Amino acid sequence: MADFNDPIGADAAWWRNAVVYQVYVRSFADSDGDGIGDLPGITSRLPYLRDLGVDALWITPFYTSPQRDHGYDVADYTDVDPLFGTLKDADTLIETAHELDLRVIVDLVPNHTSDDHEWFKAALAAAPGSPERARYMFREGSGPDGSLPPNNWESVFGGPAWTRVPDGQWYLHLFDSTQPDLDWRNPEVGDMFEDVLRFWLDKGVDGFRVDVAHGLYKEESLRDQVVAEGGRASSGQVNSDSSMVSRELKDEPMWDQPEVHDVYRRWNAVLDSVGPDRMAVAEAWTQTPESMAAFVRPDELDQAFNFAWLLADWSADSFRKVVVDTLAAVAPVGASPTWVLSNHDVVRHPTRYGGGEQGLARARAATLAMLALPGSSYLYQGEELGLEQVDVHPEHREDPSWFRTGEVGRDGCRVPIPWGGDSAPYGFGPGDAQPWIPQPDEFKGLSVEAQAGVEGSTLEFYRAALAARRAHALPQGDEVTVLTGTDDVLELHRGGLRVLLNCGTTDLPLPAGTVVASSAPVADVLPPDTCVWLG
Ligand code: GLC
Repeated sequence: MADFNDPIGADAAWWRNAVVYQVYVRSFADSDGDGIGDLPGITSRLPYLRDLGVDALWITPFYTSPQRDHGYDVADYTDVDPLFGTLKDADTLIETAHELDLRVIVDLVPNHTSDDHEWFKAALAAAPGSPERARYMFREGSGPDGSLPPNNWESVFGGPAWTRVPDGQWYLHLFDSTQPDLDWRNPEVGDMFEDVLRFWLDKGVDGFRVDVAHGLYKEESLRDQVVAEGGRASSGQVNSDSSMVSRELKDEPMWDQPEVHDVYRRWNAVLDSVGPDRMAVAEAWTQTPESMAAFVRPDELDQAFNFAWLLADWSADSFRKVVVDTLAAVAPVGASPTWVLSNHDVVRHPTRYGGGEQGLARARAATLAMLALPGSSYLYQGEELGLEQVDVHPEHREDPSWFRTGEVGRDGCRVPIPWGGDSAPYGFGPGDAQPWIPQPDEFKGLSVEAQAGVEGSTLEFYRAALAARRAHALPQGDEVTVLTGTDDVLELHRGGLRVLLNCGTTDLPLPAGTVVASSAPVADVLPPDTCVWLG
């Protein structure tokens, strides 16, 4: 294991201040020309990540999978899908990352397996009531002849959350029908995942991103969900509404059950048994900052993605409220806060902020404000290039939600990364091999090669911002004061660092101080859609 020389020091809890870069494996770098990114592709680009200045990478699932949900449908948790490489390639990736002082977080998908998993195949082959079926959520249907689903729950990807099998039983899938939910009340399930954790820890990974961490347990009665008029039966997930911000709570018997915390207490012990420097971060679309904080109590997981930051609209008030609520929620449990603006499930943030020049200006400004905050920031591949959401042609869409509902889905934030060159695949793979989603022509001017060394480019902005974070934000400690009374401006002070984000429409006089970072050039005034750090 490398001798890490990180800014956090000796306490081994490296993640508390880390910047983590999310790699969506099939869209990052393709080493073999099949149009799909892979592990050797990631390894070849690790020096780029080190030079960008991040501390760790989180890699989305690369395990054996029929790819119905691009790897979030796992058929074998302890092997690598041939599309992405081999176990040896995973070893090489982890080793090379460590040599470069980069930590590696892998994705763990415990709520459901693929329908190609041995367990589910055995369950289908076995009779109702068998131990094989008891690993999943098989139930009799409702209605006089059982021909209706057992309850009214809907899949996050649209349509009923239940599918009927030929002998008449139904199984639960909160996502696609190819992603059957496991029954976490069955002890075999917990034992299996402990083995999976240990397998990857033995390989040297530094942490886990826990997929759908607020799932796993369902209210035991499997009662109907109480649905508000005009509401959806089941949400709490992808493209979720802003209940985390608005606090209008929904009835969610399928999410965030108290028993799930026992799982994380067990995992905490597993991670600790390997060392204090192993971590887990929860993807938990919980409804309030307080329920998010429950996942990061000292004997549970270490961090949880703070989706409230991502869901906040472009206003100083919204950002202020999220910062204040987040810091207040994690303080009592002693966890470090996290911040995130984009990932593989949501519309890229420049597009969310209106797109074009203004969208990008706002995205850079929100990013710089985020990087000033105590705790960790999670970046999503391509945001350092200012990539926008792409309008993917229907014929190239692969998101299961598109197939289930006809809604556009998430492919538009998953378009393969442009690395360089004048035409597609823009260095994504060797030669002319075209990527699994075609890249738009605009990618030419946005590639790493096109932006590297170019003053004012988004890539150089990210590099400078990450360096400024190390030099000017981290040394200030974790205390933050959020100022009130400045309607259009989010102003916060972290030690001697003063951060201003102008969400309004007019220039503001720039207070005295040395500009140590800015999202756009500033002189005497702070223009709208701009963030500045004053030292
Ligand atoms: C998580 C993943 C998402 C996936 C879903 C089902 O939300 O981020 O991409 O579709 O879980 O596993």
